[in-house]
Amino acid sequence: MHKLWRHARLATLADGGWGLIDDGALVTEGELIRWVGPLPALPAQTQIDEEVNLGGALVTPGLVDCHTHLVYGGNRAREAEMRLGGASYEEIARAGGGIRSTVAATRAASDDALLHGTRRRAQALMAGGVTTLEIKSGYGLSLQDEAKCLRVARRLGSELPLQVRTTYLGAHALPPEFEGRPDDYIDAVCAWMATLHAEGLVDAVDAFCESIAFSTAQVARVFEAARALGLPVKLHAEQLSDQGGAALAASFGALSADHLEYLSADGIAAMKAAGSVAVLLPCAYYMLRETHLPPVARLRDAGVPIAVASDHNPGTAPGLSLQLAAHMACTFFRLTPLEAVAGITHHAARALGLGDRGLLRAGLRADLAVWEFDHPNELTYWFGHNPCRAVVQGGELRASSNA
Ligand code: NIG
Ligand code: FE
Repeated sequence: MHKLWRHARLATLADGGWGLIDDGALVTEGELIRWVGPLPALPAQTQIDEEVNLGGALVTPGLVDCHTHLVYGGNRAREAEMRLGGASYEEIARAGGGIRSTVAATRAASDDALLHGTRRRAQALMAGGVTTLEIKSGYGLSLQDEAKCLRVARRLGSELPLQVRTTYLGAHALPPEFEGRPDDYIDAVCAWMATLHAEGLVDAVDAFCESIAFSTAQVARVFEAARALGLPVKLHAEQLSDQGGAALAASFGALSADHLEYLSADGIAAMKAAGSVAVLLPCAYYMLRETHLPPVARLRDAGVPIAVASDHNPGTAPGLSLQLAAHMACTFFRLTPLEAVAGITHHAARALGLGDRGLLRAGLRADLAVWEFDHPNELTYWFGHNPCRAVVQGGELRASSNA
């Protein structure tokens, strides 16, 4: 089925700019874009089976949220209240709260309850223009519970008009049954990885490298296991302190290193050499009331590709708008609007190892977002309402809930 999508203002993001095309048109065949350009330039003999009039709306590539922790039970509103009263994230974590409290709620949740909560959150992100979503495990921390979370994530990808990539984050925190035995836990994480991978549940492997989580030596063991299975890696690195995590991840050819508030010059150089994407997570920065900025100017100067993600999680980033994350990346981190939009489209796709989306170009996936405004710089301008009218997932139009 060949579809002509006409009467659109396209922001193709091609060639490093906005790539604006007025009176633009796309031809899609099944899930792929076959042709993009100004309507008058459409070759006369092009096969068209169906036409969709987009009413002059602005169309961008569908958004890619490349870092989320969407599957969990419960919430951490009480902890947020404690932090507002002066307790720090580290203090709460060391006292057994933080990630561990979500682990307890996630283990206690039924498959149906987890699926229901996660589906609702995924739908909120989709309504805001997201067509590809990465979902990490990391709140199960046992083989059975990590598998439960990854299965929920995979099921969303088959139920919803959404592309889901799953990341195994067993090395997120030390579960209580391994208290005082972090190296034994890392052995378990590596052993479970093979089982989960054999079940087809893992696209990539992540870890949390931090003084309150795992050391570089422990993360290296997780990454060795991933390499042995042929799985790509990414890392929560340099969020609260400089542990040298980004350089370690780069030495394993990581797809990305994420957070990066405390990233060093050596880390930047290593990421550049490895081609790793720097994923910035301004919602967590905001929620933790961090003041230490990631080194955006130095990343830019070094030519490290920068992506932006929601980091949706119950502890440090309960927001469900990737557009708001892009807005914050501009206001807090001083990304330009063009950098932020590249960061939630093609650079985010690259952080997932996906070269087939994130731009409007012939041969790529027909994943689009349709907006109520005129210029793509408005994506990082508005906040507090959802200006997405519709998404197109693999060539199929889906009206947004607010359209
Ligand atoms: O990306 N930094 C570690 N993981 C999450 C937070 C997890 C939590 O607090 O539940 C993050 O910010
Ligand atoms: Fe995270």
